[in-house]
Amino acid sequence: MSRSATIEGLRKFRKKLLRERDPWHDTSRRFRIRRFAGPECFLEHLEGVRVAHLTDLHVGRVTPMEVQYDAASMTNAGKPDIVVISGDFVCHSQVYLDDLTEVISQIDAPVFAVLGNHDHWAGAGPVREALRRGGAEVLDNANTTIHVGHQALQVVGLDDAYTGHADRRAALKGLRADLPVIGLSHIAEEADALWEAGVPLVFSGHTHAGQITVARLHELSVGKLAGHKYIHGLYGSRGTDDAKGAVYVGAGVGAAIVPLRLGERAKREVAFFELGTQPGAFDEHHGEQEAHPGRIPSEKTKERRAQAVLRKQQKRKRRNGNGNNAGFNS
Ligand SMILES: [Fe+2]
Repeated sequence: MSRSATIEGLRKFRKKLLRERDPWHDTSRRFRIRRFAGPECFLEHLEGVRVAHLTDLHVGRVTPMEVQYDAASMTNAGKPDIVVISGDFVCHSQVYLDDLTEVISQIDAPVFAVLGNHDHWAGAGPVREALRRGGAEVLDNANTTIHVGHQALQVVGLDDAYTGHADRRAALKGLRADLPVIGLSHIAEEADALWEAGVPLVFSGHTHAGQITVARLHELSVGKLAGHKYIHGLYGSRGTDDAKGAVYVGAGVGAAIVPLRLGERAKREVAFFELGTQPGAFDEHHGEQEAHPGRIPSEKTKERRAQAVLRKQQKRKRRNGNGNNAGFNS
């Protein structure tokens, strides 16, 4: 048997083992699987639609590929109808784009994605292409309608707000008020305005849950220092008597700089949402949490973040020497 056939055989065997685990109670392999229901306003539109949420894969040298494959296998084991991924697919370069394509192609259900700050820093075009090669639909300030059996669900994707690429008006254009809708935004604080626009459930990432949650250090690092209102998990409201809306911030799969994750809330995560199910119908990881005070970034900060993308783009062009940023950079 050739080496590649042996590797493929081992990969299939591992996939089979993972599939045979109970996806709701699998606490091994450094992951947590978290499960939620709602929101209530979907009860009249949807029944039994399961969404899997992944975020911050950061495919690259910091996060082992076996972790990425585990995330894909656990996602498949939950048998979602759709998978949403809320940005930061790469770390700092375009070196691992083929690996990204490979990971995305392992996911069985239709995948919808938005980009994050790291994707814009590394080069948004090639990251988009890698995702599309893997079978994902990238929603750059756009929306689409999918069908699960006879049920229609709209998905709105907001491009990354951290680097100044979010265009809410474009993302919401043509959205139908008579159909249920979920939103994707790398930055969770964008949910506030998406709720106002009639998107009652938003999936986000970016924070990695702080990565160190012992002694509530994540509340200091992500909340106080970085100024986020939404750090990890569920915030807002899923009830119909409070028209606000909910946002779910995933803890993520990978990391861009330090692989360390310490504390229960910091564990790598695959989250499942049962749309068309009443919140409280089953045990959830936690209920809606109080938002932190947060801090709106100043105009100066926004400008600095936008400039960082341009600077990195120029650097890539200089390295490639031909103005073509589709080449592989380190
Ligand atoms: Fe990230």
